[in-house]
Amino acid sequence: MAAPMTAAPLVIAIDGPAAAGKGTLARRLAAHFGLPYLDTGLLYRAVARRVLDQGGDPADPAEAARAAQALSPGDLARGDLRTAAVDRAASAVAGQEAVRAALLAFQRDFASRGGAVLDGRDIGTVVLPAAPVKLFVTASLAARAERRWRERAAAPEERAQITADLAARDAEDAARTLAPLRPAADAVTLDTSALDADAAFAAALAIVLAVIAPQ
Ligand code: DC
Repeated sequence: MAAPMTAAPLVIAIDGPAAAGKGTLARRLAAHFGLPYLDTGLLYRAVARRVLDQGGDPADPAEAARAAQALSPGDLARGDLRTAAVDRAASAVAGQEAVRAALLAFQRDFASRGGAVLDGRDIGTVVLPAAPVKLFVTASLAARAERRWRERAAAPEERAQITADLAARDAEDAARTLAPLRPAADAVTLDTSALDADAAFAAALAIVLAVIAPQ
């Protein structure tokens, strides 16, 4: 007797620049569909944190590779992964081949256990190119800087620096030769500049449903 047909596990790949609202959206989509969620930026942040803690240079490929290979689940649970120093160091380690290679299997394995939502920069292009649903979540630099500034409860005079840091990090993520930030050919782009969290979620959900349950 033929095995009954079962729906393929739902995998949602979300990419986009920093502070575009990917994480909030990804978490809400994961909760809605009952799927596990992986913030892949945390992996790069945790590698960067390890290098910084050892007094190392995040741009040194050997040190960054060692840190990536030694990564453990506890590293991802640390409360000090979202500082400005880690922002810069994470971008530096993320441009290195050995670091990306060391983190690839973990990400693919996470997605292969019955569906998942992953967000990052190269999920739809490199990590899970066969994901059935791909979203590219973006927003203007001004909108993203405003969100990051509020999130960090920063002083008014820090706004310009936050904007400059975001622009620099975007440029670094988009210009690197390895897994640069760009939408997959089959990704749907969602611009959240003018959307609050609820409106962004409604728009993202409509995109996902149009792919998995077309009318
Ligand atoms: O999303 P985030 O700001 O936490 O990401 C931290 C850094 O890691 C950022 O410079 C981009 C990089 N990154 C990446 O290169 N690939 C991913 N899949 C996720 C993050």
